[in-house]
Amino acid sequence: MSQHSVKALTFNSMNHVEEYKKLYSESIKEPEKFWAEIAEKEIQWSKKWDKTFEWNYPDYKWFVGGKLNITQNCLDRHVEAGLGNKTALLYLNENYNRVAVSYGELLNQVNKFANGLKSLGVKRGDKVVLYMPLVIEQVVAMLACARIGGVHNVVFGGFSAQALRERIVDSGAKVVITGTWTLRRGVKKDLKGTVDEAIQGLDVVEHIIVLQRDAASALVEKEIDFYELLKDQNEFCVPEEMDAEDPLFVLYTSGSTGKPKGVVHTTGGYSLYTHYTTKKVFDIRENDIYWCTADPGWITGHSYVVYGPLSNGVTSVLVEGVPDFPTPDHWYKIIEEQKVSIFYTSPTAIRMLRKYGEQYCEKHDFSSLRVLGTVGEPINPEVWQWYRKHIGSGDRPVEDTWWQTETGGHMIVTLPGLPQKPGKAGKPFFGIDVDVVNKEGKSVSVNEKGFLVIKKPWPSALRTCLNDHERFKKYWNEIKGVYFTGDFAIKDEDGDIQVLGRSDDVISVSGHRLGSAEIENALLTHPAVSEAAVIGKPDEIRGEKIKTFVVLKPGHAPGDDLVNDIKRHIKREIASMVVPDEIEFAQGLPKTRSGKIMRRVLKARELKQDEGDLSVLDT
Ligand code: WT7
Repeated sequence: MSQHSVKALTFNSMNHVEEYKKLYSESIKEPEKFWAEIAEKEIQWSKKWDKTFEWNYPDYKWFVGGKLNITQNCLDRHVEAGLGNKTALLYLNENYNRVAVSYGELLNQVNKFANGLKSLGVKRGDKVVLYMPLVIEQVVAMLACARIGGVHNVVFGGFSAQALRERIVDSGAKVVITGTWTLRRGVKKDLKGTVDEAIQGLDVVEHIIVLQRDAASALVEKEIDFYELLKDQNEFCVPEEMDAEDPLFVLYTSGSTGKPKGVVHTTGGYSLYTHYTTKKVFDIRENDIYWCTADPGWITGHSYVVYGPLSNGVTSVLVEGVPDFPTPDHWYKIIEEQKVSIFYTSPTAIRMLRKYGEQYCEKHDFSSLRVLGTVGEPINPEVWQWYRKHIGSGDRPVEDTWWQTETGGHMIVTLPGLPQKPGKAGKPFFGIDVDVVNKEGKSVSVNEKGFLVIKKPWPSALRTCLNDHERFKKYWNEIKGVYFTGDFAIKDEDGDIQVLGRSDDVISVSGHRLGSAEIENALLTHPAVSEAAVIGKPDEIRGEKIKTFVVLKPGHAPGDDLVNDIKRHIKREIASMVVPDEIEFAQGLPKTRSGKIMRRVLKARELKQDEGDLSVLDT
């Protein structure tokens, strides 16, 4: 398959490569020294740590004995530096309602809400579940928890009552914060009703705080209005002095097996790592209007909508709704009108925009954009090129960022200024020691496929899985001594890493191991194909055969001719052994709410097997 690198970056030079190499090798040689220097320079601590790093395999600690509160880094320090009037959060929705909140106002709201939580008895270490729309109040609630040492557990507003209930029970949350509804394609989607259903008969929940988005209505026992709680509170709340290793939040994520696990992140290392990656990966500048399209219900929202950008003192944009409503150029309009300078989204979203066509891009001025980003799954080179050409004016760096809920922040990226290779995530971030290995943990050769692992703990690595430390240990025991990411990858001669997808999505045909993403990339270069998913099906002779599900672009109709054309195309792009045995035309593909194609579900349906945990399926 063709995989060309783009040479014509405006600020691409060998100097950057050399500089990266030098800094990177220093950071890897002495990671403790590297992180200690940055922690001192970039983060405000109320007490300095005694020991930078401690590793009792598999457990580890960073900045042992250090004290801080992340909200001081995200709010107070900017206000103290005279940025009180600068916009911290900019909210927009599908009706183009616009709300801007300054750093000073945000600090004030957070303090009052934090005092409100205290008045309900929330103490340091208590879990608080958030099930909220993507609005400013969600960020206020998260930061207020952090202000008083409460541990937030944000559950994405698209999860079902059952999934929400499981998370409330597992985390033992005494308080649930919700809103009456969230806006999606002109429809008010009920949230409060889902909470009511989720907590039926659950005594553990003592209070439900409700953001009432229409006129206030009568609330019943246990319920309290969001603004009522905040109203008469003191405008200052002393930030709880947290230990660097105190938990900041729990966030549930699905594993390849079993129930979702509650990934626990701690205060010190996470503060530092999200701050520093945001700063470097997006080349943050003072007046940036920064838009990461994720919902705070996911890790991307935690690290790169809330904590990272606020810690850097920029304006973080929140948009409630979907990319293509009310019009296919809804997001383009926001970029143009709000003069967004950093735009960070997912391959799925880009593919959706691409499907509508570039004529929508051409109607808008994207000159404010300086850096683009993508996250969540491997980005098809074809889609990468389109993104850069039609949204990035042909020359903006596209930051492919590989990381996971468990890693807390970016692990593999192409820093702005380094050569860009479409479809390759790039190089490890400073201080991150990655390798591609075989099952025995031995490095594989250049350009050979293997398991992507991280060799040493980094500051924002998960510390445990809530109530299940054994599950945490598995990450470090799958291949002894290293963190197992569960992804396949290839490292090229320049040290650039291409992430091929989950190691559980592998297809083996006649002993050839094939990554589904690789075949999907090839399918996407066919002019009629908008989206594609590939699974393996049992085959008596070859072990597995390939089935593909294809969503067509408008104006193309299914038929035998097209099937043959796609087969020819794949043969041309990769090899005849990869030509799908079956091609099924589909209206859409099952996806997680964060937009990942659920091949596992397609496969189970195809093989008439149990579809497993569907709590993340976007229905
Ligand atoms: C898995 C983690 C971390 C943010 C959102 C997803 C895949 C993530 C990339 C990328 C290729 C990627 C991996 C990873 N993934 N980013 N840039 N290129 N694959 O978080 O739900 O914890 O999923 O997403 O397979 O293991 P998550």
